[in-house]
Amino acid sequence: MNTLGLMAAVLLAASSAFADDFPPKIDVAAPAAVWVTVDQADLAKPEAAGFPLKGPVLSEGGIAVFEVRPDMLPILSQFMHDRFKRCGGYLAHGSMDAAKASLRPAAVGPRAAYTLDQQAVVAPLVAGVRESSIRAVIEGMSAHHSRYYQSETGAAASRWLQGEWGSLASRIPGASAALFPHSAWKQPSVILTIPGSELPEEIVVLGGHLDSISGWGNSGARSPGADDNASGIAVLTEAARIIAESGVRPKRTIQFMGYAAEEVGLRGSQDIAAKYAAAGKKVIGVIQFDMSNFAGSGEGIWMLTDHVDAPLSAFTGKLVTAYAGVKAATTKCGYGCSDHASWTKKGFPAAMAFESTFNDSNKAIHSESDTLATMGGAATHSVPFARLAVAFALELAKTSSGGGLAKVVAAKH
Ligand code: BES
Ligand code: ZN
Repeated sequence: MNTLGLMAAVLLAASSAFADDFPPKIDVAAPAAVWVTVDQADLAKPEAAGFPLKGPVLSEGGIAVFEVRPDMLPILSQFMHDRFKRCGGYLAHGSMDAAKASLRPAAVGPRAAYTLDQQAVVAPLVAGVRESSIRAVIEGMSAHHSRYYQSETGAAASRWLQGEWGSLASRIPGASAALFPHSAWKQPSVILTIPGSELPEEIVVLGGHLDSISGWGNSGARSPGADDNASGIAVLTEAARIIAESGVRPKRTIQFMGYAAEEVGLRGSQDIAAKYAAAGKKVIGVIQFDMSNFAGSGEGIWMLTDHVDAPLSAFTGKLVTAYAGVKAATTKCGYGCSDHASWTKKGFPAAMAFESTFNDSNKAIHSESDTLATMGGAATHSVPFARLAVAFALELAKTSSGGGLAKVVAAKH
């Protein structure tokens, strides 16, 4: 690609938002290229005039693939944000092969028969969700200067989370909290595993991204990411605490995942989902928590309807009504806005629970103002999300102490 041409085009197209951190810093340790996929339908829209990438190197199935230097990703993000009113709106891949693989979404693999029969175990547990515990994790995560995926403090935040999850795991027989390293960048993902007692090879995943970003990839900038997505990590941690302290054991394996590098193209979750698919792992249900603490549309939990599995999302809506104590509603991003899309692409059934309608969501994200104070200083809005996380984990994994084990149907993986 002609980089000077690209820079010139971008300078012409640039809004005043570039003034502070333009030209972007080039990280010499970064890989030479990444491959980004963008919807061709988006490229055909008038808003795409002056799109800053030349190419594409491949177009197939309504998707265009571009080869891009990683330090150009912030420019692409800025463009998509200015023109399409979305934060990124593209997916980044570590190789041309990975980009190509993403063009063909896999068929949906094994799913559980979704039954709601664990009330006797789950209802008393969700009553134990504490706002103060959720708040403490939001504060702990936000205290890291930045959780940017290439930064030293971003890697330190992963280790901090591993410590938190490790002390919860130590209270559950056989459980562990491990770092999941990624070869292309510094920040690892974190996975807390609670092994299943009867069907350990069948996995229920509860995830959220642990990285943060401010501006357009300026790794030095303060990035508290309190709502986006310390809140999701705090919801997961609270659910893990409740399960750890309950003594309840799941029949299927439960994995809590803190994904690295979501803000730069869902890269951590894409790496994990690709490795799980390649290893033939049976992930029977995934839920994503990304932004849970800003009450832009009032009380409630909004289930996404795009880039998700419809039956699992409908079932999760029922869990909201049964256990979360707030109304269940729906909304959509209009693009693969978070890590649920990585699982969906690989053919695993995934759902995503969100804080509000897409339009009413927190406007302070991706800036130094994404703090707990901006959200009123409390974690109240996240409390129902933690109840949902406990219910999702135990209704999908089922428990040894109550209820039957719903049969897995239509196994394809
Ligand atoms: N938490 C956001 C996604 C989001 C933002 C959902 C606002 C709903 C409302 C997420 O961390 C994010 O920023 N995602 C990127 C997508 C990605 C492929 C880089 C985005 O939204 O552009
Ligand atoms: Zn974000």
